[in-house]
Amino acid sequence: MIAESATTPVLEARQVRKTYRRGAIATEVLKGVDLTVARGEFLSVVGASGSGKSTLLHLLGTLDQADGGEVRLDGERIDNAGARRRDRLRNQAFGFIFQFYHLLPELSALENVLTPLYIASSAWAWPFRRADAVRRARALLERVGLGHRLDHKPRELSGGEMQRAAIARALISGPRVLLADEPTGNLDEDAGAEIARLLRALNAEEGLTIIMVTHNLDMARSTDRVVRLTHGRVDLSPTVLGNRPAPGGYHSPNDGGDRLSLDRRPASMAVLGAGASPPAHPEVFGVGHFPQR
Ligand SMILES: Nc1ncnc2c1ncn2[C@@H]1O[C@H](COP(=O)(O)OP(=O)(O)OP(=O)(O)O)[C@@H](O)[C@H]1O
Ligand SMILES: [Mg+2]
Repeated sequence: MIAESATTPVLEARQVRKTYRRGAIATEVLKGVDLTVARGEFLSVVGASGSGKSTLLHLLGTLDQADGGEVRLDGERIDNAGARRRDRLRNQAFGFIFQFYHLLPELSALENVLTPLYIASSAWAWPFRRADAVRRARALLERVGLGHRLDHKPRELSGGEMQRAAIARALISGPRVLLADEPTGNLDEDAGAEIARLLRALNAEEGLTIIMVTHNLDMARSTDRVVRLTHGRVDLSPTVLGNRPAPGGYHSPNDGGDRLSLDRRPASMAVLGAGASPPAHPEVFGVGHFPQR
């Protein structure tokens, strides 16, 4: 590690703006978001439904592009990165987890976790890398408590187990930041608490930087810092989690809130074998131009 990396924020947003346009209708969602995230920090983002939390997470993770402002990763601007670099960042620098897991249904837990490595590898190199990749994927699945479910397909896993597999997949490339959008929003209280404990442990024991959107205020309180998104900006005031309800209130988590559309085409079981064609690429792993062949 270079010396300055200890003090440079891992992720920084400056005056980030985003307006969605649909025909003549413009929805101004982010009006100048400032946010600085330290390395090793576990940050929660709360806010009313529609306040722009998912939008912000997508902009931070280069899943979408801002209309103005800057996003820096380890001091380097990434908001203006070209498609190829954004693909690479999503594959390697960011890990993503979502409310609805977004596992590929035809693949086992182990194969799902391997997917980002498979995508990052050239087709000719994969047969040589596969054994090491499988070792790493197994170790990660064991780390998240899923060592006994390696061959299970998503439909053969519980919600909490699917989220564990998604966490292992998000971590397989050794990301600098984990971006989590309501990771317990679809789980019952116990399973949600288990996922919260796992994230806390990954943060404390592995130094993983986590930015987590949540409607669960107890879960938010258990993190290092909480910011609230309101009126298109980040409210940094210490009363964010005061007893007063947020304007507009917090809504029930099961709103189908993820607007990120992922490619859900069934991928063949053979996709991770030698010389196979690439699977349907969810954009979160770094699709499109990545890898350079
Ligand atoms: N692709 C889009 N086109 C147009 N408007 C959009 C688009 N995506 C989101 N919006 C609008 O932007 C606003 C912010 O959406 P976003 O999904 O970021 O909210 P959120 O805070 O994550 O809400 P929730 O808690 O319900 O998940 C909403 O009013 C939403 O309707
Ligand atoms: Mg959302």
